[in-house]
This record gives sequence, C-alpha cells and structure tokens, in this order.
Amino acid sequence: MSLAYEPEPPSVTVRAPAKINLHLGVGARRDDGFHPLATVYQAVGLYDDVTLTLDEEWGVSVRHDAGRPAAIVPLDEQNLAVRAAQMLLAHHGVDGAAAVHIRKSIPVAGGMAGGSADAAAALVATDRLFDLETSDDDLLAVAARLGSDVPFALLGGTAIGTGRGELVEPITDAGSWWWVVVGSDDALSTPQVYRSFDDLVGAGAPTEPVLPPALLLALETGDVGALADHLGNDLAEPALRLLPTLRDTFDDAAAAGARATLLSGSGPTVLLLCSDGSHAREVTAAMAERGHEHVVAVPAPVSGTHVLDVLDTL
Ligand code: C5P
Repeated sequence: MSLAYEPEPPSVTVRAPAKINLHLGVGARRDDGFHPLATVYQAVGLYDDVTLTLDEEWGVSVRHDAGRPAAIVPLDEQNLAVRAAQMLLAHHGVDGAAAVHIRKSIPVAGGMAGGSADAAAALVATDRLFDLETSDDDLLAVAARLGSDVPFALLGGTAIGTGRGELVEPITDAGSWWWVVVGSDDALSTPQVYRSFDDLVGAGAPTEPVLPPALLLALETGDVGALADHLGNDLAEPALRLLPTLRDTFDDAAAAGARATLLSGSGPTVLLLCSDGSHAREVTAAMAERGHEHVVAVPAPVSGTHVLDVLDTL
C-alpha cells in the first residue's frame, strides 16, 4: 500500500440556468435553414451544473437529478458540453482534455435549452480550468457557433434575442416573476418543430418578426397582469400538432388557476405564470393533483452562467 499523497486533479464546477421565451416570434426559413427570430429570453431558476476535471482524455458522465429523462443525452464527443470545451481550447490553440460531469435538473429535449446551458457552463469551466482568460466578445462568438441559445445561457437575466437567437441584448426587467414548470414524459425535437412550423405557416411568415412593445412595457413596469396578456410563442401550434396531448396540459393549467400558460421554446415543457411565490405553490399542488409528475415552481429572472466551485491544486 502506498501512503504517497496523491493530490486531487484540478476541477471547476459551473452552474447555468434554463431559459424560457416570453415571446418567440418566428420568421420564414432562411437560406441557411435557420429561422429569423424576435424573442425575449428569460433565465429561470432551474439549473445544470457542469464539472470539468483535468484528465488525460475526454470523457462525459451525466446524473439526472430530475428523474428519468424523456430523451438520451449523448455520452460521447457529440455531447454539446464536450464540444464546447474542445472548441474553446481549439480557439486558443491549447491542447488538453477533461472529464466532463453534468448534473442535470433542466428537462432533456424539453424546450428549455438544457444542452445550451451545458455548453455555456462548459465554456466558462474550460476558460477557468485552463486559465484561458477569454474576452467576453470571444466567449459569445464561440457560444454562437455552438447553438442559437448558448449566448443567452452565458448572459442570463432577461434579454432580447435576434438573428437566429444568438444576438442577445439585455433589457430592463423590473419583475420578480414566478413560473410553474410542467415537464413532459415526451420529448420534442427542435428541428422537427421548426419543420412543423414550415408546414403550417411556411412562406406566410414574416422575413423580420417583431416584438410586441406591450410585452417590453410589462417587463419594465413589472406588471404581472400585462405580462400575462402579452406572452406568445409562434412554435406553440406547430408543437401541438406534433403532440396533441399537450392541449390537456394547457387545459389543466387554466383549471389550476395559472395567470397565463405558455409553451416553452419548441416544447413540450409548459410554463404557468403565477402572481407570486405562494400562488406558484398553490398552482404546483393543483397540477400535481391533476396527475402531472414533473412540476416545479421557479423564480425569474436569475443570473447567467457562473462559477460555483474551484478545486485547483496545481
Ligand atoms: O442553433 P441550434 O443548434 O440550437 O438549433 C437546432 C435546430 O433548430 C437547427 O438545426 C434548426 O433546425 C432549428 N432552428 C431554426 N431556427 C432557429 C434556431 C434553431 O430553424 N432560429
């Protein structure tokens, strides 16, 4: 038996939030296959934590804290967190590898950008673990190459998203909002929902979608009634066409007393706007009584991707 002291390898743990879209305005498909968006992102208090530990080779493991996932998270270099770490190292011309561990609370394939959150967390963890000192602009640019929602996951708070969603600009949000998040046992593929949008709306969609000014005003004033009146998601009908049982969740949400009900991104997660924390608890209980198993109340807005823990014995 060796009594030699073996130090723990350096590691960094980073937390990234889920996002919702208070308005998701979708335009006609562009030549590159993406759709122009006019969206208002909000980061909500549901998180994935990503730990990168220095290693000889790449590896990835996932622990699902919210129970059995509705879809599979890739456990190889297809995983968006691994791709993010590799992309940032390549950007700096640095060689290296890490074991990537993801603690997931954000629903998988649920329309809350869980994969994008993991990528954002991995970018920040890689930057810290390898002491890369990436500028904010470079980090946002690498994030945009990884996925349309990754720049917002870095930023958090409340922000307008344009382009294909990757161009983000923070906006004033005076509210302390509460949402009840209702997960689904089903998964929806984002590309499939966009294809369903093309079938339903097609060339009838605007080339440049716009945001409703009343929604921005509701955020500036923190008025929950006004926010309830001006939420919107152009992917709701296309998603409902693919998963008609979602209609039941919308009906249950109305019966449970939600101020408004919104499909999260491309779905199938459903969001119930509440008046405050105690209303959110009541609505959570009412949805559970109606047989919904994955129901959680979350505050918003919350901050973006941030370091939780650093273990550095170098
Ligand atoms: O950017 P991201 O990789 O997250 O996008 C996943 C898929 O969602 C794209 O391949 C595309 O099919 C669809 N998408 C889109 N328009 C957007 C964002 C995503 O059509 N603005």
